[in-house]
Amino acid sequence: MRQETTVHDGAAAEETGAGTTPDISFNHVGKRFFKKGKPFQALGDAHFDVQPGEFLSIVGPSGCGKSTLLNITAGLMKPSSGDVRYKGEPVTEVNTDVGYMTQADTLLPWRTVRQNIAVPLEIRHSPRAERGDRIDEMVEKVGLKEFGNHYPAELSGGMRKRVLLARTLIYQPETLLMDEPFGALDAQLKLVLQQELLRLWAEAGTTIMFVTHDLAEAVTLSDRVVVVSSRPGTMRTIKTIDIPRPRAVFDVRFNDRFRELQQELWAILQDDMMEGGEM
Ligand SMILES: Nc1ncnc2c1ncn2[C@@H]1O[C@H](COP(=O)(O)OP(=O)(O)O)[C@@H](O)[C@H]1O
Ligand SMILES: [Mg+2]
Repeated sequence: MRQETTVHDGAAAEETGAGTTPDISFNHVGKRFFKKGKPFQALGDAHFDVQPGEFLSIVGPSGCGKSTLLNITAGLMKPSSGDVRYKGEPVTEVNTDVGYMTQADTLLPWRTVRQNIAVPLEIRHSPRAERGDRIDEMVEKVGLKEFGNHYPAELSGGMRKRVLLARTLIYQPETLLMDEPFGALDAQLKLVLQQELLRLWAEAGTTIMFVTHDLAEAVTLSDRVVVVSSRPGTMRTIKTIDIPRPRAVFDVRFNDRFRELQQELWAILQDDMMEGGEM
């Protein structure tokens, strides 16, 4: 049953869908930055594909280049080596087909929940008449129906995350990039939002590339997990999470296969942390 592929043999595509064009393909992507005038390699050699409709997570210690990889995918940053393709086309400018939920809380404090969710519709000049209905639908989907006219300062951390998610989803992006979206939340709330995310993902058929440093979260949610080691961020393993769906996020962690997978991934990450990475 166990399936494991190293990333450098190019096996990822064969494993999950031979013949289809991947949604995202990373072809030996590296990124160099300069610190105090000296070059340093933040991201080594990312080489894998994300298939249409797949839920793929990236786990790795802090500073291993996870956010950098998402920034490159969104077209906000250029790689120093290699290239990224989105549905077969090279990413050369900001990729407006992807929704990007960044690590930072970027809600506008002077706007209500509804007005915050409206931002992408305004930017894309979607017809004013349709906006109200789309916003109604979205606040309902993320469980914020009663809070549409509240301001961000009046919301809990979990609610703010829901608004950010609604704002990312309102334009129905085919692909969603999520950077540690539930990182700062308490354990129970995290489970609630994970379950909602899985439901929304299953309903919409979206492709998700999800960054986390939480192994249990990665195993709970994903079809495949990419493990990145630090300095420079190097892809270590891609592991297929062969746990049946639909998954109940609370119950799944009592599944034997869940524990096995978590242990295997932890063994890989732990090695790396002993060498000086940090979570
Ligand atoms: N724009 C930038 N300029 C210089 N260094 C950067 C920049 N963005 C990220 N870095 C550095 O690259 C490394 C990887 O960063 P990042 O992708 O944010 O890691 P992660 O998201 O895995 O924590 C870190 O050492 C970070 O300080
Ligand atoms: Mg990051």
